[in-house]
Amino acid sequence: MQRISVRDILAKKGREPIVMVTAYDYPFARIVDEAGVDMILVGDSAAMVVHGLPNTNMATMQMMLLHTAAVSRGAKRAMVVADMPFGSYEASRSEAVKNAIKFVRVGADAVKLEGGVEVADKIEAITKAGIPVVGHIGLTPQKRLMLGGYRRRGRTVEDAERLLEDAKAVEEAGAFAIVIEFTAEEVAAEITRKLKIPTICIGSGRHCDGQVLVLHDILGLSETIPPFAEKYADLRSIALEAVRRFAADVREGRFPREKHVFHMKETWRRDRE
Ligand code: KIV
Ligand code: NA
Repeated sequence: MQRISVRDILAKKGREPIVMVTAYDYPFARIVDEAGVDMILVGDSAAMVVHGLPNTNMATMQMMLLHTAAVSRGAKRAMVVADMPFGSYEASRSEAVKNAIKFVRVGADAVKLEGGVEVADKIEAITKAGIPVVGHIGLTPQKRLMLGGYRRRGRTVEDAERLLEDAKAVEEAGAFAIVIEFTAEEVAAEITRKLKIPTICIGSGRHCDGQVLVLHDILGLSETIPPFAEKYADLRSIALEAVRRFAADVREGRFPREKHVFHMKETWRRDRE
């Protein structure tokens, strides 16, 4: 089966909403792929969601490459987008290209990197190397130290204008899609109208070309979820109950049962001493 391509994603703009979710490992990649999502994001949210680290600045290339390789093995149909971690693309165009190539070598179909006008030259360099790029503007968690935390974007006209400039710079640099995070609905809607490439939103309202959420928020595996997310299942409770039952079965002699064991083929006679 062939995976969804850049052309397929571009063709959805104005026709059909694009569905993107994150995944970090093989079993969940199999599940979200079978569920029919268009794009799987191997987000640097992995640092927090599956490694228990305090922020996404802690994600490394080594970490993201391992997750991307595992997800890629599980994705038959969905496009796999790898998040470039903090420190892997800021220093130079050549470093950005070299690191993007590493993601393609482990099975990514595209990479995503955070920023607007200030990273346009990196987006251009990576796309010129033949690697599709997804932009990411609005709240950009990797810049939390500069922004002083995780602030909502686009609440003032000045910020809205800045975001529109960022979006245009990302499109002109060659990105084929753009994630807009935690931005006022009106601003994301205007960016969606102004750009030819699809906008994929998270916490940025209803008038985008697609939506993305963190899988562990959807499934109820996160301890807390952001206000813009929606919990569609409570896997934490299901997992907790299953492991508790296993522990009780072991402790009370109900596991293993006859169906879980095997026996000798020969008769073993031992003299009792
Ligand atoms: O890392 C991530 O999960 C992301 C999404 C929230 C867009 O970048
Ligand atoms: Na991210």
